[in-house]
Amino acid sequence: MQDVTGLPFMKIISEFGDPDLYFTEYFRVYEGSRLNPEILSSITCNPSSRPIFAQLLGESINEIVRVCRLLQGHSIAGIDLNMGCPAPRVFKKNVGGGLLKDPAKIKEILLAMKSVIQGRLTVKMRIGFEDDSNFFEILEILKEVEVDLLSLHTRTVLGGYRSIPDHSYVAKAVKFLSCPVILNGNVTSAQVAVQLREETGAAGVMVGRSAIRNPWIFRQIRELQNGEDIFRPSMNDLYEYVTLLLEALKKPDMNDARLVARSKKFLNFVGLSVSPNGEFLHFMRRAQTSRDLLDVCKRFMLEDGLSETFVSLEPYDHLVARPSQETCSLISKCST
Ligand SMILES: Cc1cc2nc3c(=O)[nH]c(=O)nc-3n(C[C@H](O)[C@H](O)[C@H](O)COP(=O)(O)O)c2cc1C
Repeated sequence: MQDVTGLPFMKIISEFGDPDLYFTEYFRVYEGSRLNPEILSSITCNPSSRPIFAQLLGESINEIVRVCRLLQGHSIAGIDLNMGCPAPRVFKKNVGGGLLKDPAKIKEILLAMKSVIQGRLTVKMRIGFEDDSNFFEILEILKEVEVDLLSLHTRTVLGGYRSIPDHSYVAKAVKFLSCPVILNGNVTSAQVAVQLREETGAAGVMVGRSAIRNPWIFRQIRELQNGEDIFRPSMNDLYEYVTLLLEALKKPDMNDARLVARSKKFLNFVGLSVSPNGEFLHFMRRAQTSRDLLDVCKRFMLEDGLSETFVSLEPYDHLVARPSQETCSLISKCST
């Protein structure tokens, strides 16, 4: 996930329990674009032994081919095309989710990628732009091009991140395609992951926001699948995670205000399972310094008795994370 799941976060996830596969944040591809060094570091310094796929976001065939060749020199399992990003500044340029409006263009891009990629060619997409009218036409293209894996986020692009995902599209894709289909969208816990896999026939699940909230989720999925008791983190365990995270997010040239803003992006997700009445989010969003932030975390995660209080496995669904709005300058507009 852009600006979130870079190398510092990967290092932490890797300690708490790796997923089977990683996908990088997207490399934006345009005329003369270089490989963003920070994103590239998650490949060159991959802290896990798990395969990593490089994700691209773009539409110019020549430039995509050029960037695929650049990436070929690095240790990647394959290259993934982003056909899901819902940010208007992105889809208005007909990239990311915007590509779903133009199946012919998708075919051209994928055929060109296929001709240069030595590893696997994978696709991350939503079920459509505003509706599902192109869904089967696009699946037909993925089949024809022999894409190696599809990650399907079961919302439309205009559905953003909060519409209700419709996972029946995964079952349809599983039936239609011979490659593995990975289910994505609101996989909030190990129980949900296992249940959705069973219901849809997905080869696996992709977890985004809930991995930030609960970095133990991949370990828990494995435990549940193996019939073992799943690890239940206490509030103290959560505090340990948060301190590691805030330490990992520091950069030598970063002042405290930037560190606070960056940390809040993550704590917005963590906060969804801390206090049901939203108190943690309320105080966290008002913290001005990294010391204030840690004090808020201590209060909600370390105080007496919290070593025996479990973190909620599911997010409290009436609370909302607003990771891109929470900076000190926006405090007056913030509420839980
Ligand atoms: C902050 C943020 C950044 C994201 N960046 C990317 C990205 O770079 N590439 C991508 O394929 N999806 C990206 N996504 C979408 C997620 O991969 C995922 O499809 C979506 O959040 C739904 O899954 P979830 O409910 O498990 O979070 C991003 C989502 C968020 C919230």
